[in-house]
Amino acid sequence: MNPSQQEIINKTAKFIEEKFAGEGTGHDWHHIYRVWKSAEQIAKTENCNAYIVSLSALLHDIADHKFYNGDLLEGSRQTKTWLEQAGADKDTIEQVADIVKRVSFKGANVKDEMPSIEGQVVQDADRLDAIGAIGIARAFAYGGSKHRSLYDPKEVYEMHTDFDSYHKSESSTVAHFYEKLLLLKDRMHTETAKKIAAKRHQYMEGFLEQFYGEWEGKL
Ligand code: ADP
Ligand code: NI
Repeated sequence: MNPSQQEIINKTAKFIEEKFAGEGTGHDWHHIYRVWKSAEQIAKTENCNAYIVSLSALLHDIADHKFYNGDLLEGSRQTKTWLEQAGADKDTIEQVADIVKRVSFKGANVKDEMPSIEGQVVQDADRLDAIGAIGIARAFAYGGSKHRSLYDPKEVYEMHTDFDSYHKSESSTVAHFYEKLLLLKDRMHTETAKKIAAKRHQYMEGFLEQFYGEWEGKL
């Protein structure tokens, strides 16, 4: 008998949790867990296949392009290998691998296109995790890992229009807000994610205002 969809989801979660154990780069299991859980919730508000959403959320960062020398197909390759082994059907494997491939395209100078609603839900959940309180924490953790300064008042921040080139930046972590984080609310696909993003965006704006005040030594 073929394993049930729920069994395949459970197996995949276990596999990914083990694979990402000890990752401290912002792509840890906790990130994937949050994306998985919020994607499940967004999926309930959309007419979509929740099975594809769950698997794609769990597998979306299986191979980060930053660690695979820009080989954008590594993620979909690993996804296929895993799902075949887990006993998923061919159609599911194709759909999930395509979503994983498209999610990896972000930040790699490739226009981001996400045609399926399941992929849009996962992309929204992934982007939501880059904003708000968690997003702020992840940005400073990432910046610290690259030995970036918190903020540099000499930098001039303009909202970037070239959304896909942000990885090239060598600037401070606050600059990353203007390169990417403050743009994400307008990049959401689903209504549910747009509403959550609006709240988290406001939170980040409040954070920056407070940050600039404290930077100047204001009490
Ligand atoms: P994901 O795959 O989760 O969408 P990324 O791989 O682009 O995200 O980045 C992982 C985390 O690190 C995100 O929270 C992102 O905002 C943050 N990050 C990426 N690039 C930078 C940067 N240049 N400065 C600060 N934070 C960054
Ligand atoms: Ni992610």
